[in-house]
Amino acid sequence: MIERLQEIESEALAAVQASADKKELEQARIQYLGKKGAITEVLRGMGQLPEDERPVVGQKANEVRENIQEAITGKSEAFEKAEWEQRLEQEEIDVTLPGRPVKQGSTHPLTAVVEEIEDIFIGLGFDVTEGPEVETDYFNFEMINLPPNHPARDMQDSFYISEDTLLRTQTSPVQARTLQKHEGEGPVRIICPGKVYRRDEDDATHSHQFMQIEGLYVDENVRMSDLKGIFDTFVKHYFGQDRQIRLRPSFFPFTEPSAEIDVTCGICAGDGCRICKQSGWIEVLGSGMVHPRVLELNGFDPEVYSGFAFGMGVERFAMLKYGIDDIRHFYTNDKRFLSQFQHL
Ligand code: DAH
Repeated sequence: MIERLQEIESEALAAVQASADKKELEQARIQYLGKKGAITEVLRGMGQLPEDERPVVGQKANEVRENIQEAITGKSEAFEKAEWEQRLEQEEIDVTLPGRPVKQGSTHPLTAVVEEIEDIFIGLGFDVTEGPEVETDYFNFEMINLPPNHPARDMQDSFYISEDTLLRTQTSPVQARTLQKHEGEGPVRIICPGKVYRRDEDDATHSHQFMQIEGLYVDENVRMSDLKGIFDTFVKHYFGQDRQIRLRPSFFPFTEPSAEIDVTCGICAGDGCRICKQSGWIEVLGSGMVHPRVLELNGFDPEVYSGFAFGMGVERFAMLKYGIDDIRHFYTNDKRFLSQFQHL
């Protein structure tokens, strides 16, 4: 049996050496070391041996198996190395080629504009707050001086959810929420960006969902000249140093007096063109001195405190700055549109 094992060993080693590739090597392994291989066969016959010979044969079988396995491992490594060298020779990698760019998403233009406007107001000492989009009639209208049946409620067609909840039509309710939180103690200096909703037909300049930024500054001795100064600074930062503003009388239930703020047209620099309808001015936001009634309703003493408020449409600010001609572009997620703002 020992002899048979020696025979198997030399046969196997020869077969391993002679194998031309991994497949042949595997065949040799199965043939000699496999479950039905030559060594197993010898071991099966061990039962017929006298008991004292068995350990010797067993030991020899182990030795032979190990030798064969070692040869197989060596040969297998040699194959792998050869394969690797061949690949290195055949495949060329030009490490100087530029990489393929990974396509990345980018900030939505409205988000970029909101962030830019926030930065400017933060620089002017304002905090950024938020309020709920599903709002009560109480905050959306009543607390900002629009009692039930007030005709000015018709200025904003609303999406009601129940009799006294609706999708907010403006960010102005955040004025009331913020004042109430301050419990009659100034100063209050906030802006509040957010989505608002109106029952409008969508077209190039209207959208049933759009964004506003509300502003509120309440303290002792706040005057209309403060409003003008803040907006002059803001407009010069946002649109450019050469821009000017003007205030025009207007009406809002929550401000008295109220004013529209216009900015000189960026296309014609005030000379008059198609964009500004030949007026040289473009209307950009509503504003005014906080109505004493609003202060009072929300726990502030109008004898001590005064303030200004404003509300601006974010889409309008984005459209004017980037020459966008249709508000619907912001909401249709066309990548050809969005990818133009990758630099923002
Ligand atoms: N809430 C107004 C609107 O949606 C905009 C506005 C005008 C807000 C004047 C104000 C303001 O705070 O003072 O039309």
